[in-house]
Amino acid sequence: MTSLATGVILLLVALCGLSAGSRDIVGDVIRLPSEASRFFRPGGGDDDSTGTRWGILIAGSSGYWNYRHQADVCHAYQLLRKGGLKEENIIVFMYDDIAYNVENPRPGIIINSPNGEDVYKGVPKDYTGEDVTVNNFFSAILGNKTALTGGSGKVVDSGPNDHIFIYYSDHGGPGVLGMPTNPYLYADDLIDVLKKKHASGTYKSLVFYLEACESGSIFEGLLPDGLNIYATTAANAIESSWGTYCPGDYPSPPPEYETCLGDLYSVAWMEDSDIHNLQTETLHQQYQLVKRRTANGNSAYGSHVMHYGDIGLGTDNLFVYMGTNPANDNYTFVDENSLIPPSKAVNQRDADLVHFWDKYHKAPDGSTRKVQAQKQFVEAMSHRMHIDNSIKLVGKLLFGIGKASEVLNTVRPAGQPLVDDWACLRTLVRTFETHCGSLSQYGMKHMRSLANLCNAGIGKEQMAEASAQACVNFPSGPWSSLHKGFSA
Ligand SMILES: *[C@@H]1O[C@H](CO)[C@@H](O)[C@H](O)[C@H]1NC(C)=O
Ligand SMILES: *[C@@H]1O[C@H](CO)[C@@H](O)[C@H](O)[C@H]1NC(C)=O
Repeated sequence: MTSLATGVILLLVALCGLSAGSRDIVGDVIRLPSEASRFFRPGGGDDDSTGTRWGILIAGSSGYWNYRHQADVCHAYQLLRKGGLKEENIIVFMYDDIAYNVENPRPGIIINSPNGEDVYKGVPKDYTGEDVTVNNFFSAILGNKTALTGGSGKVVDSGPNDHIFIYYSDHGGPGVLGMPTNPYLYADDLIDVLKKKHASGTYKSLVFYLEACESGSIFEGLLPDGLNIYATTAANAIESSWGTYCPGDYPSPPPEYETCLGDLYSVAWMEDSDIHNLQTETLHQQYQLVKRRTANGNSAYGSHVMHYGDIGLGTDNLFVYMGTNPANDNYTFVDENSLIPPSKAVNQRDADLVHFWDKYHKAPDGSTRKVQAQKQFVEAMSHRMHIDNSIKLVGKLLFGIGKASEVLNTVRPAGQPLVDDWACLRTLVRTFETHCGSLSQYGMKHMRSLANLCNAGIGKEQMAEASAQACVNFPSGPWSSLHKGFSA
């Protein structure tokens, strides 16, 4: 709307208001467009229908074996667009190495479920490749254009009546979320950014949906009440989250796909939002439905969806954040229509192995492809063993054989943050990586052990000595490589 049109409408509102003697208008003729807009919107009259809806969607991984995270994010983009959000209000972070990857059986197409349609079409390339960074993500949330490096320059340029929806899908570990670049995202920094955004008075409420292993640890004991933030996570603070539509699962991806197509929690919320009139479903109703589906009948193939922050916002309709697809106007939410959970799922951390294994399995005997797949599998496995053993050895060197596993495996009571001194955690991660190589996506699982070393008073010098002893040789291999820098 042009400012002239806005001005005319404001004037009309003012006049109508006066003639009707409305107490909203009398004595307060000049109103901000955001305050006035509820008079015009169909179905308005509810404060929550005012303001602009913003979305930030981020896939924190790269690599074809991580297909699912970018597929999730593309799907979320389509969902928000169908809900009525404008492209200019949705900011997408994705490495963008999937659609045209040599492994992709349908070039230029990304699907997020076995019979799903293309979700890649039309997704804006705001921040791709090496521009998918923690700094750019934070700057986009804060609306700080001058702090950006690269990318489209799109940021959340929001006002006090706006609603913000952030969705993040990736690998993670206790207190940390992955990025396709280094460093990774640490929970304390994210919480600081959210506090800063709140202090700037540039949103009314904010919803954060997070898919990652141990994702509960990003908010647990860290996200205070009163910021008008409602967060849900795929897993609690101490467990893995799960990939779905994986080779060998039921439902299974089309046979030509050797990778998982989605993540359990992510497809649960999106497949629910896809089909309903979101004016009739609340955040809390969706939380409960997603929690049931992601628990997967409390089988070994599921996780505990959690919620944090201002839980009271759970009474808001999803419409407030995601809009709603007019085609779903007649499909109101009913509690029983839970979608069928999959019979199996793949631990987020094993999805790369599933890809290499399936590739190996299907490649013709004696082919270069088979040799390559085997090499990839072996490299991933040996990196895992190296990292697991190094962490254990560091623990033993610092605490002795008897006490090491107790220190490394301690889990603080629910409601407490992972670590008190986050700077210490970063220092120990860097020190470990200096001697032992990159933690990489798998190694993030050991973040709790490193945090426990801080909590037990271990400092940089002790850590350097123990790591140097534990890792005599700096390992070669793509997973250990530090060419991208440190993860902390
Ligand atoms: C935006 O980022 C720049 C560079 O990091 C910083 O100097 C500036 O203070 C930030 N502006 C605001 C409003 O936070
Ligand atoms: C919803 O149902 C009404 C009444 O049956 C019908 O007129 C309308 O076209 C339907 N809307 C949609 C989007 O299917």
